[in-house]
Amino acid sequence: MNALTFPILRLLADGQFHSGEALARDFGVTRATVWNALQAAEALGVQVFSVRGKGYRLPESMQFLAHDKVLAALAAGDSKTAPEITLQTHDQLDSTNSHLMRLAAEGAPHGLCAAAELQTGGRGRRGRTWMAGLGSGLTFSLLWRFDCGASGLSGLSLAVGVALARALQELGVPGAGLKWPNDVLHRQKKLAGVLIELQGDMDGPSAAVIGIGLNLHLPEALKNSIGQPVTDIASITNGVLDRSHVLGALLRHLIAVLREFERAGFAALREEWMALHAHQEQPVCMLMPDGSEVRGIASGVAPDGALLLAIGDGMQRFSTGEVSLRAA
Ligand code: BTN
Repeated sequence: MNALTFPILRLLADGQFHSGEALARDFGVTRATVWNALQAAEALGVQVFSVRGKGYRLPESMQFLAHDKVLAALAAGDSKTAPEITLQTHDQLDSTNSHLMRLAAEGAPHGLCAAAELQTGGRGRRGRTWMAGLGSGLTFSLLWRFDCGASGLSGLSLAVGVALARALQELGVPGAGLKWPNDVLHRQKKLAGVLIELQGDMDGPSAAVIGIGLNLHLPEALKNSIGQPVTDIASITNGVLDRSHVLGALLRHLIAVLREFERAGFAALREEWMALHAHQEQPVCMLMPDGSEVRGIASGVAPDGALLLAIGDGMQRFSTGEVSLRAA
């Protein structure tokens, strides 16, 4: 990683032209060194325009995360929330989930949150990749340690969906729906995804790394390259929200929901989840790990978070895992 790349990108974040000469002067290096640092940015997939006589600029202005602003938004209205969280902000990580899974195995504390400006190997459910350009979304993970074992965490991913929907409502992003087990949709297009990975025994204690990717303002080219309909907050609200504020609000709601979950399990959040269910009473198709399909009418979720599918006269349960749901 080129040590100058992100410091220069921070200067370019205003979306204005900066001459190579001025950048070189600011950092006490040669223009060739600046050029190399920005080549390294391009290699990471960050588009940088270079115009002779004018210098370098990003396609548009962008916001880097500001640690203090995240913590301020996190603590808003609840002074008990902030102390439980330790926030790391990274310029670049392979994946915030992979990063926290490594740290968790080394004994990292409960409440550690890692956010990355850019992931080079972002991961989604079922082996998919998660794509988000620099500054165009939020990608972060939270390590949460539970006294119970992994067997007591059923419904956790659905609970996280409820937290995201609550946060979006607070942020003035109306109309979010939840797709089982934990995608956040807006008008049937994906707005956010959740990847939860567990460590520990079935009997406990256990640790969950809760990874969240939220689309804020995706470039059109990126939207079109993702193999499913996606949307972003900018398209819904016609405005750009402050990234740090959004991260703080998401974390605050996440923590509140995780505490509810610890106290009473998913059952306490089930009604709220059902009210947000994007496919309630609609025909859906479940893709099974062996490639087969099961069709039925989505009929809500059980208190343990299993999806209930009405098939003919019967009701079939599907637990989270490698099953995937599609509107039929
Ligand atoms: C999905 O919808 O398939 C889940 C997507 C989860 C993406 C987030 S981005 C932050 C965290 N780090 C990762 O590598 N993945 C999750």
